[in-house]
Amino acid sequence: MIDLHDKVKQVLITGASRGIGLQAALSLLHAGCRVYCVSRSPSNHAHDNLHHIPADLASGVDSGAEICALLEERGVFPDTLILCAGAITEALIPKQDPPSIMNQLNVNFVAHVELVRRLIPHMMRHRFGRIVGVSSTAARQPAPGQSLYAASKAGLEAFLRCCAMEFARKGITCNSVAPGYVATEFSARLEATKDLSKVVPVGRMASVQEAADAVLFFLGRHSDYVTGTTLTMDGGLSLAVK
Ligand SMILES: NC(=O)c1ccc[n+]([C@@H]2O[C@H](COP(=O)([O-])OP(=O)(O)OC[C@H]3O[C@@H](n4cnc5c(N)ncnc54)[C@H](OP(=O)(O)O)[C@@H]3O)[C@@H](O)[C@H]2O)c1
Repeated sequence: MIDLHDKVKQVLITGASRGIGLQAALSLLHAGCRVYCVSRSPSNHAHDNLHHIPADLASGVDSGAEICALLEERGVFPDTLILCAGAITEALIPKQDPPSIMNQLNVNFVAHVELVRRLIPHMMRHRFGRIVGVSSTAARQPAPGQSLYAASKAGLEAFLRCCAMEFARKGITCNSVAPGYVATEFSARLEATKDLSKVVPVGRMASVQEAADAVLFFLGRHSDYVTGTTLTMDGGLSLAVK
């Protein structure tokens, strides 16, 4: 059982139909939270406190607005946001066509900015909020073919650092987690995961539970003073890169 802050009760998670987001959702349900999961398709899990909010974040600002309208209709005002949905198109820059550019920027960055912009006033009124972005080590470590993905994740981290400054006095913390490689459908598609044991000092990928636990750290009872930071959890990968 995680040692959650007692004000963490209603959590909105993007990208919670599978992978890291779903694992975080399951841990939060277990801890007694009500969890609202945004994704295009629902997860296979059923629970009275698990609610699917269908949305395609590729619509950027519009999807953020639609999600918030749906929440408002239901009288739901999340105290916690986990921004976990992610999209990547691995291709060199000339092959990153406008739809793939916009898809990566919208899913990883723009839709999340809009969700924060619309939901933070409620957190301010209640003088409590927890916001965690799921970034990537790619935000800092260049890899060929990942330019838009890296830029959108770096943007998300920078955005959350500024939010941390703006809302620190309102009891709202904003942080990011930057995983290296986590065993999910997402990483299975990546070129670099073919022979990880040689490049990751720990010698394996992280499990989804390990990645979810890093996210949940920021929702913990003892994390009030932690804001504006990024927790890298990569099994030492960034140490090993020359
Ligand atoms: N796995 C890794 O090695 C790794 C490493 C570093 C960072 N990350 C980051 O961790 C986060 C979670 O990744 P994961 O590994 O758990 O991936 P995953 O298992 O593929 O899950 C991705 C989630 O994002 C949702 N999503 C994708 N596109 C969406 C869209 N257009 N609209 C709404 N939801 C969308 C998916 O739901 P639907 O398809 O149902 O919409 C799914 O719930 C991502 O932000 C990723 O960049 C992962």
